Amino acid sequence: MSIVVENSTVLSALTEKFAEVFGDTKEVEYFFSPGRINLIGEHTDYNGGYVFPASITIGTTGLARLREDKKVKLYSENFPKLGVIEFDLDDVENKDGELWSNYVKGMIVMLKGAGYEIDKGFELLIKGEIPTASGLSSSASLELLVGVVLDDLFKLSVPRLELVQLGQKTENDYIGINSGILDQFAIGFGEVKKAILLDCNTLKYEMVPVELRDYDIVIMNTNKPRALTESKYNERFAETREALKRMQTKLDIQSLGELSNEEFDANTDLIGDETLIKRARHAVYENNRTKIAQKAFVAGNLTKFGELLNASHASLKNDYEVTGLELDTLAETAKKQAGVLGARMTGAGFGGCAIALVAHDNVSAFEKAVGEVYEEVVGYPASFYVAQIGSGSTKLDVE
Ligand code: GLA
Repeated sequence: MSIVVENSTVLSALTEKFAEVFGDTKEVEYFFSPGRINLIGEHTDYNGGYVFPASITIGTTGLARLREDKKVKLYSENFPKLGVIEFDLDDVENKDGELWSNYVKGMIVMLKGAGYEIDKGFELLIKGEIPTASGLSSSASLELLVGVVLDDLFKLSVPRLELVQLGQKTENDYIGINSGILDQFAIGFGEVKKAILLDCNTLKYEMVPVELRDYDIVIMNTNKPRALTESKYNERFAETREALKRMQTKLDIQSLGELSNEEFDANTDLIGDETLIKRARHAVYENNRTKIAQKAFVAGNLTKFGELLNASHASLKNDYEVTGLELDTLAETAKKQAGVLGARMTGAGFGGCAIALVAHDNVSAFEKAVGEVYEEVVGYPASFYVAQIGSGSTKLDVE
C-alpha cells in the first residue's frame, strides 16, 4: 500500500538533509505514519472494551534505504544533538538508555521474533511533528513508521494487523508499558476522514465516516512537561486487573468490557475496595458510553455525542483519576464556550491533549478564550490545532 504525494518543501528539505547526513539520496524511499486522537473510549482498550479513534495528518515522516552491511544508522531531525545513532543488527537486544532508537530496535526484535528475515542494515532519517508527551501517540507513530519501512525495504509482506500487534508488543515487551492496542491500531488502520470503532476484545472494527458538518475537532495541548505517565498508566492497568480478578470469583467474565452498567453496579461488593470500584466503574461505564456515542455520531446527533464527551471526561477525572489541573482546566473551560458541544481529554491522560467539538465559526474566539484562562490558571500557554483526519501508516510515492 502506498499513497501518491507531491514533493513538498518539507520532503525536499528532508531529502537534502538525508544527503547531508548519509552522503547521497540514491534509492531512498519515503514513508509517513500519523498520530492519533481518540474521540471516546479511554482506558477501555486493555479492559476488553471499545475505542473510537482516528489518525490525524500530523505525524512522523521517514526516509530510508538499505545498506549492504549490517549497520543500522539513524538520524532524527528532532534530536540533532544526538547526531547519527549507529548500531549493529546483531546488537538490537541491548537497549539504548532512553533514546528514540529503542523503538527501532524493538520493532526489529519483534519482527525477527515473528520469523521475518531482516538480514541487512539500513539508514533511516525521521522528522516527527507530533509534540512529545502530547498524548497523540508519537511513540506508536514511530513504531508503525519503522514497521512500514522494514516491511517495504525487506519485502516482508507483513499483514497489517500483525504489524499493528508487533507495534504493541514493542511497547509492552521492549519499552515496558502495558498499553493496549488503541494507538497502534488507529495509526495502522487509519483512513482519510474516517474514524474507527474497534472492539478491543475481538479486534473486529468498523470504519465510520467523520461528518462534522459545521463543526471542527480542536486539539488542545496542555504542553505539560512529561509527568509520571508510564508508572501511573501501569498502576491503572494493575488496578483494573485486580478488580476484574475479584469479580471473576463469582462472575463468568473474561474482561470488564463484557459487563453492562447495571450488572457492574449489582456486583461491586465482590470488589470491596472503594478505589478499585471507581477504576472498574470507569472502564465499564466508558465502554458502554462509547457504544452509545458511536451510534449518536453515525446518526448525526452531534449534540448527544458532545454530551457523552463531557461525561467521559468527568469519569476520567472522578473515577479513573487520570486528568489533573491542566486537562481539567482545558476541558472544563472549553465546554463553557459558545458553539461548543463537548470536550474531553484524549489518550492516556495526566497531561497531553484534550479535544473539543467546536462550531467552525467559533474556533478563533474559542482558542483565545480557553487559551487565556489556561495561561492564567496554569502559568504557561496551551497550544491549539484543528484536527484533520488523515491516512494510516504508508509508503509515499513522491512525484
Ligand atoms: C495510551 C495507551 C493506549 C490507551 C490509552 C488510553 O494511549 O497507549 O493503549 O490505553 O492510553 O485510552
